[in-house]
Amino acid sequence: MSFPVAVLASGRGSNLAALIDAREAGKLLIDIVLVASDKADAPALRNAEAHGIPTFALDPKTFASRREFDEALFANVAASGAQLVVLAGYMRILDAAVTAQWVGKMINIHPSLLPKYRGLHTHRRVLKAGDLEHGASVHFVSAELDGGPVIAQARIDIHPGDTEDALAARLLSQEHCLLTACVGAIARGEVRERDGTVLFHDRPLTAPLRLGDGGNLLVA
Ligand code: GRF
Repeated sequence: MSFPVAVLASGRGSNLAALIDAREAGKLLIDIVLVASDKADAPALRNAEAHGIPTFALDPKTFASRREFDEALFANVAASGAQLVVLAGYMRILDAAVTAQWVGKMINIHPSLLPKYRGLHTHRRVLKAGDLEHGASVHFVSAELDGGPVIAQARIDIHPGDTEDALAARLLSQEHCLLTACVGAIARGEVRERDGTVLFHDRPLTAPLRLGDGGNLLVA
């Protein structure tokens, strides 16, 4: 079996689709052992089912607390045998105690050049600030929202007249390449986390890796 990966997604699931496509094209040696969601109607679940991937959804409203929900969710994730959890558009804040059990084994994709613009509405905030550049980051998940060590980033220029939607769409295709590259690098053992630092080929990174034109990860 290849490297087992679980994906959590709340919605559309285009990042999940990119992982599935790369895997099916033989470009990503992973097994997606589970796709889970906090939304039973998430399109990401339907896509996973169509590809024969096990899925489940849990409704947060049926749990008394965030911790109980996350404990139930991650008990299922652990049972799947996943060695890596990918948050791909998973729109819930995670309980810190549950997150602590997955340090170094859980990554998130966020549509900004972290540490800038943690949280929501990143495209809108970038435009409002008048930035010339935007991007996406993949980071190891820590208890702090969008705050864990950044593995790699993809950058795009902001064009005059760009709208939130145009920017989001242009960035999304880069997100797909970035996430695929990061998952591949972790699966191959090239990237890992130690004491809050990202190691690339066993050397600590002093800056996030960048996504090269060929979809590979380069030291910045
Ligand atoms: C992406 O922009 C991702 O960076 C953010 O949520 C969005 C999810 O998109 N965390 P999709 O569901 O993967 O299409």
